[in-house]
Amino acid sequence: MSNVIKLAPSILSADFAHLGKQVGEAEQAGADRIHVDVMDGHFVPNISMGVPIVASLRRVTRLPLEIHMMISDPDFFLDEFTEARSDSFLVHWEGNNNLHRTVQRIKSLGKRVGVGINPATPAVVLEEIVQDVDQVLVMTVNPGFGQQHFIHSTLPKVRRVRQMIDELRPGCDLEVDGGIDATTAPLVVDVGANVLVAGSAIFSAKESIAAAMERIRGAVESRNTHHEGREEHEEKTSFRPKRGKRIGIFLRVLRALRG
Ligand code: DX5
Ligand code: ZN
Repeated sequence: MSNVIKLAPSILSADFAHLGKQVGEAEQAGADRIHVDVMDGHFVPNISMGVPIVASLRRVTRLPLEIHMMISDPDFFLDEFTEARSDSFLVHWEGNNNLHRTVQRIKSLGKRVGVGINPATPAVVLEEIVQDVDQVLVMTVNPGFGQQHFIHSTLPKVRRVRQMIDELRPGCDLEVDGGIDATTAPLVVDVGANVLVAGSAIFSAKESIAAAMERIRGAVESRNTHHEGREEHEEKTSFRPKRGKRIGIFLRVLRALRG
């Protein structure tokens, strides 16, 4: 698994009156890609944005634009989003009877492709498609809205998807989306996520975009230090001697037996 955690700010929670400026701030602050949520009011009970937003953003940022297609017929819109110079597509397993075809079409357009699963969808449905994708998206909320509560029961599934990726498609990104903030980011990274989508935790008026991104990164990093600290602590407090010491004891016993 890659140790580098990527941040994908979701502009669903951005201030659309200042979208270009806010995306610029996220880019300056080291965002890895921009996550664009496209909704049609059918696949999810909400509508959001479409091709013109992507075309406009393309003019103001160099960051990869990933399009999260929460629409009933993603195939109908792939060409238009491609013309608007998006970089990757995330399509859902749910409601797509010809997922393999959709994935192949996206690849033939020269774009990165990811497949997403909703909270109630089991990881196992990815088994026959993971070999074909660059990315898996595990939804950690039910898609449709920003600012929802993270669903904790998705964590074991993220871990299962990580195992599947390591076994069948090493190098494939494992992205999570929904309710990610400084509290939940360490949890998802712990179980193997390496791309974190965050909307309301980044584009809130409470602090600057850079500060919010730093807060999430900091939480993930301090989780590493915490882990190292814990291992050290466990070694110090463990009654079992360390491996080196155990070998030393073994050799001493051996010598004593030989006389
Ligand atoms: C939800 C979208 C998310 C959304 C996440 O359906 O797919 O990308 O913007 O928002 P937060 O981070 O606020 O949960
Ligand atoms: Zn999304």
